[in-house]
Amino acid sequence: MQGPLAPLTVTGAQGSWFFDDDGNRHLDLGGQLAYMNIGHGHPRVVEAIRRQAAELPVIGPNFANRPATRLAEMLAEVTPGQLNRIFFTNGGAEANEYAIRMARQATGRQKVVTRYQSYHGSTLGAISATGENRRFYAEPTAPGFVKTLDPYRYRCAFCGDRDRCTLACADAVEQTVYGEGPENVAAILVEPITGLSGLVPPPEGYLRRLRELCDRHGILLIFDEVITGFCRTGAWFAAELWDVTPDLMTVAKGLTSGYVPLGATIVSERVAAHFDDHYLGAGLTYAAHPLACAAGCATLEVYIEEELAERAARTGARLLERLHELAARHPCVGDVRGVGLLACLELVRDRQTCEPMSPQRTEAALSPEMAEVRRAILACRAWPLIRWNLIILAPPLNISDAEIDEGLHALEAGLEAGDRALR
Ligand SMILES: Cc1ncc(COP(=O)(O)O)c(C=O)c1O
Repeated sequence: MQGPLAPLTVTGAQGSWFFDDDGNRHLDLGGQLAYMNIGHGHPRVVEAIRRQAAELPVIGPNFANRPATRLAEMLAEVTPGQLNRIFFTNGGAEANEYAIRMARQATGRQKVVTRYQSYHGSTLGAISATGENRRFYAEPTAPGFVKTLDPYRYRCAFCGDRDRCTLACADAVEQTVYGEGPENVAAILVEPITGLSGLVPPPEGYLRRLRELCDRHGILLIFDEVITGFCRTGAWFAAELWDVTPDLMTVAKGLTSGYVPLGATIVSERVAAHFDDHYLGAGLTYAAHPLACAAGCATLEVYIEEELAERAARTGARLLERLHELAARHPCVGDVRGVGLLACLELVRDRQTCEPMSPQRTEAALSPEMAEVRRAILACRAWPLIRWNLIILAPPLNISDAEIDEGLHALEAGLEAGDRALR
């Protein structure tokens, strides 16, 4: 399947746009892979990287460095509750690897409960935690991971009534934990809002139920906020939206908006205390890289100065309204979901049966109809993330209203193509 790939060569980028080598501009509706939160080419971050490169571009993780110390302090300020201890990684998968390892070491238990529809990264532990439709290529995966069904309201496996949620999805997590024996379960690891594996926000009360379940049995709650972190959802972290604080939180992407790769495993004081007198075997050669941490400090300053959480909440609410208007005009849209500036259109062949326009499996090629949708959107030079039967939007958080209008125009072209292809 790599054969037909012919990626566009990008030669520059600014704000919500990137430019190809023929001089065309393209609208970044997907924020690359849902990480370009502050927009391309932000002068504050570019300058911080330049300054750090001149001062101390690199030093090993066996030494402290100023930007890493400062970034850890800044993170402790913005993370919820007692999530104050920071372990820097090269990205999101590695952050999850260490969250899993720390949870196992701190509890002395082995099993980790995750969800069927999830993505936690591509390294062995992280892909073992990942759900079925994005894991098949890595089998056989590591033992010790147990899956439970998702709170996917549009395709609810439990209540069978989208308008009346009984939180049977939370009961299911509880049953999984009881089935495995709570005394064997180290952690429950979830994305608070499922990201690129379905864009599924949790029903009201669901995350609180997970918190209570963990508290009852001494299980650690881990939130993977690799996509939802850093103002994307209209709050610094999605955890705040439901007022639930995990014991460990993993971040990457928006931490530097991708300007230099960086992630972190963020740990509560209580969990961190275990490692005061127990050896933590963790860390890669480039951990706490000064260039990446300098980019992180500058990126956090941008979130604060440009009030990007508030802005994402405002722009996201308007965007969601407009997406609902599009859905009303186009029968190929089965569902519209969104929190802050993270939104999706789920396309179907038939609104009654909800049959997906394209299978929800990563290895499957897009169906001819979904390929038509994609072609029509890209013809307008707009780039949402298109996966399975989903059109996912995660643009820069400072995208303008006029740019959103241009993006919606492109989406409408795609939906017209989808309706036409189904007729
Ligand atoms: C929710 C989530 N967790 C973890 C990862 C892995 O992050 P990385 O690709 O930086 O390893 C991703 C990547 O898309 C993700 O979406």
